[in-house]
Amino acid sequence: MMLRDQRQDEVTRRRTFAIISHPDAGKTTLTEKFLLIGGAIRLAGSVKSRKSKKFATSDWMELEKQRGISVSTSVMNFDYERFACNLLDTPGHQDFSEDTYRTLSAADCAIMLLDGAKGVEPQTIKLFEVCKLRRIPIFTFINKMDRFARDTFDLLDEIEKVLGIRTFPMTWPIGSGEDFRGVIHRHKREVHFFEGRNITTETRARVFPIDGDRSELHQVIDPAAFEAALEGMDMVTLAGNEFDQTAFSQGELTPVFFGSAMTNFGVRAFLEEFLEMAPSPGVKTIADGTKVDPLSDNFSGFIFKIQANMDPKHRDRIAFMRVVSGTYETGKLVNHSRLNREIKLTQPLQFFARERTGTDQAFSGDIIGIYDSGIFAIGDSLVENARYRFDGIPSFAPENFASLTTNNSLKRKQLMKGLEQLCQEGTVQLFNEENRAASDPILGAVGELQFDVMLFRLQNEYNVDCTLNRLPYQIARWTDATDEQIAESRARTDSTLVRDIFGNRLFLFKNQFHLNYFVSELPKINLYSSDAQLLGARHEATVASEDAE
Ligand code: G4P
Repeated sequence: MMLRDQRQDEVTRRRTFAIISHPDAGKTTLTEKFLLIGGAIRLAGSVKSRKSKKFATSDWMELEKQRGISVSTSVMNFDYERFACNLLDTPGHQDFSEDTYRTLSAADCAIMLLDGAKGVEPQTIKLFEVCKLRRIPIFTFINKMDRFARDTFDLLDEIEKVLGIRTFPMTWPIGSGEDFRGVIHRHKREVHFFEGRNITTETRARVFPIDGDRSELHQVIDPAAFEAALEGMDMVTLAGNEFDQTAFSQGELTPVFFGSAMTNFGVRAFLEEFLEMAPSPGVKTIADGTKVDPLSDNFSGFIFKIQANMDPKHRDRIAFMRVVSGTYETGKLVNHSRLNREIKLTQPLQFFARERTGTDQAFSGDIIGIYDSGIFAIGDSLVENARYRFDGIPSFAPENFASLTTNNSLKRKQLMKGLEQLCQEGTVQLFNEENRAASDPILGAVGELQFDVMLFRLQNEYNVDCTLNRLPYQIARWTDATDEQIAESRARTDSTLVRDIFGNRLFLFKNQFHLNYFVSELPKINLYSSDAQLLGARHEATVASEDAE
């Protein structure tokens, strides 16, 4: 068994994070530069090059290519100095915000990436909201400063007003576009000089102190441009927000950095500050109040993503697990909390982009992939010497509904198997209408594109050709209504009652009008827009009744 302080060293050096951004802000480029700086790749351009054929071999990637979007979530590991980094990639498209939420449930902090010319964009807002729900520290990197960028005050003001988060600039840009000369580093009191447009190799910026003799600095940067930037930075120091550690830890204040991922400017400086400030894996509290210490001897972890067929040569599923405590070791016996059954941990796969390499041990904060023979679903917890369940991976209320028909009735079994697996992976949600046993399942998706992914995969992986039939619902709400209340609702409102795969009940409504009518007619019935809210309410009710006893 591993010594506790050895484990402590490993956990303390871990940083598990995700990058959120509107498409095209430069997430791929920034990721590449991180990997380059971390020595994980030699030449930038190998994570996802649109021109590269390397990743175009899988069917799964084919869909991404056709759509020009990133559907899947991959995990990348790299080391930088004393830190071991787990970088979670999140889909940028809004139709996959559920997927993003799940990914963020495995991250300890996030980097919000903005394009300096565009500022806060629609997808930034959506992803930020998802991030805020988790109350994790959020760092901001304002990218593309080598191109024309909006006024710095303007950008900060927009972040504060639109996203409702306080800003704390850590660096301050000197000009932008053609006039970009670098950044002033606020607490280091130095200037990082931007001199090159070196796209593929990593260079360190020349650094000048801002206090004392500025003659060397003035040789490379026009004094007027420098003074203007310094004035801006001094102004925020005087009139802006103070750095508040608690607000930062809870995602209410964001440190802001400026740079240019493409030209490698400001990326290393950002990474260094980020890794120092970002939290290492901490204590996780589960619903019943139990605290899970990352340094505990007992292993625990939860599944936040299941992905099939990342590699067409292996027609298998991979479950992505976030380690919460203890050490992941092959052969260890753990409790599968949902099935309440002992299972043996199998040889894990560590991910670097999509290349698979075997790895022996993993610690709190690590994200590992394990082969799944079909026993895992999103949210499953694996725990050594105990049985409990990590929560916090909710299903959100779908807004798109459909049923499926297949022209070939012999394929029905295949179809059901495919649907069940896609549902376990979280691609779509599956509902069954109550009181109509033989009816086709109702499929729900938060984003429209999830249906496209489902149809594509049913055809490619399960060989079932299906037609999607739209159903006239727009809103779903979980409920803990009693049987009498349900009977009353059926008599008085136009709603459809279904159950999710866990047996929880939901009402489906055709539109907002029907929902409003329902609420006004039956105000005593509780409605919840995610299953997590339902479970939370149930938990509170149990605690209250225990207290009463
Ligand atoms: P994404 O993953 O967030 O969608 O963005 P990605 O990194 O693919 O970047 C989108 C475009 O923005 C790319 O150009 C990329 O080269 C460019 N870009 C990223 N960072 C910077 C930067 O700091 N400065 C400038 N000027 N451009 C940047 P593209 O022409 O769409 O693609 P490519 O042919 O260069 O790959």
